[in-house]
Amino acid sequence: MSAATLFLNASEVVTCAGPGRARVGREMADAAVRSGVAVAVQDGLIAAVGDERELRARYRKAAEVDCAQGVLTPAFVDSHTHAIFGAPRAAEHELRASGLDYMEIARRGGGIHASVRDLRARSEDALYELALPRLLALSATGVGTVEVKSGYGLTLEDEVKSLRVVARLQATLPLRLVPTFLGAHEIPLEHRGSSASRREYVEQVVHDMIPLVAREGLAQFCDVFCETGVYSVEESRAILTAARQHGLGLKLHADELTACGGAELAAELRATSADHLAAVSDDGVRALAGAGTVATLLPATMLFLGKARQAPARALIDAGVPLALATDFNPGTSPTLSFPLVLTLAVSQLRLSVAEALVAGTVNGAAALGLAHETGQLAPGFSADLALFHARDHRELPYWLGARLCERVWIRGKPCP
Ligand code: NIG
Ligand code: FE
Repeated sequence: MSAATLFLNASEVVTCAGPGRARVGREMADAAVRSGVAVAVQDGLIAAVGDERELRARYRKAAEVDCAQGVLTPAFVDSHTHAIFGAPRAAEHELRASGLDYMEIARRGGGIHASVRDLRARSEDALYELALPRLLALSATGVGTVEVKSGYGLTLEDEVKSLRVVARLQATLPLRLVPTFLGAHEIPLEHRGSSASRREYVEQVVHDMIPLVAREGLAQFCDVFCETGVYSVEESRAILTAARQHGLGLKLHADELTACGGAELAAELRATSADHLAAVSDDGVRALAGAGTVATLLPATMLFLGKARQAPARALIDAGVPLALATDFNPGTSPTLSFPLVLTLAVSQLRLSVAEALVAGTVNGAAALGLAHETGQLAPGFSADLALFHARDHRELPYWLGARLCERVWIRGKPCP
């Protein structure tokens, strides 16, 4: 057993302590914030959360971290990113401002297609060098666990190349990374010519890519961009059913821009998460309730695309659907590396309470990755994944719009670089 470390002198400790599963309804409204408590960490796990004097007496030889009256929280879980890409797509941002729509840009060969051309031309080493500082920057805002999708390769070789980059990043970084295979992120341009060619690509995803990715342990989840003009509900069902047969967990980009039955499909398949949902229908909300699927909301995406609409967060909570929050970090629709910005948008745009936003960014984010038994809360037995913020009151975390309040992050008890 290694020596313990005591985190002392925090003005508040946001523990989110409770069951190691997704929180629903009123449970989301309680982030279990405590004052005057210390946190003891041993062997990479939370050993105790309790009265400062008591823990000082119990862990007399412990190393100490002075939280200097800051706010200590569970490190955030960013359960939806597309961090493996090459160049930014700044020109498209301006094109949208001039009136061109996201899907229209894609129809003209831009959007995801532009990132695909770019990624295919880059080496694994080059992609690794680009992704490393991005993940460090994201982590520095308070994040300890990041889901990372492939999806800009769209050939067996280029999807595997992307997932190998994630594996190399995991070998270098103390962050916990969760790789997701998103070979069905777009229909590659070379397969858009005819329905036979399109079918051929879906067959490749199902018969070649998924078996290989699963066999080599390159991904834990499989995701599909189910959207009008991209993958249909039937295609998405075929791909995710194959993924499940190969032991992958299921995620779905569902009802981001149009209500096309994505939420219903995610519920039918009992997917771990249904993500986006800005256009989800009432039927979709009803389907998700009771399916055990986490609704992962990505408010930065709608903001960046200049859309007035956001996912119906309150209706989802009222229906008993657990909400998670994530950045959706990607070069097209959400080029942000700030998790606290997402918390701000969750309060101002999705109208969550601060406690709901914090629970969505920690425990429920972990649940969206099947990790709620391991991370997302400061309670004995959970991984010692913590973030310290320069603030007195936890409500300041979403309040200081665009500020950099995070001072330090620890994963499994070890400080992140
Ligand atoms: O989550 N919608 C699909 N995927 C991303 C956007 C990807 C891109 O435009 O490069 C999203 O918004
Ligand atoms: Fe996405």
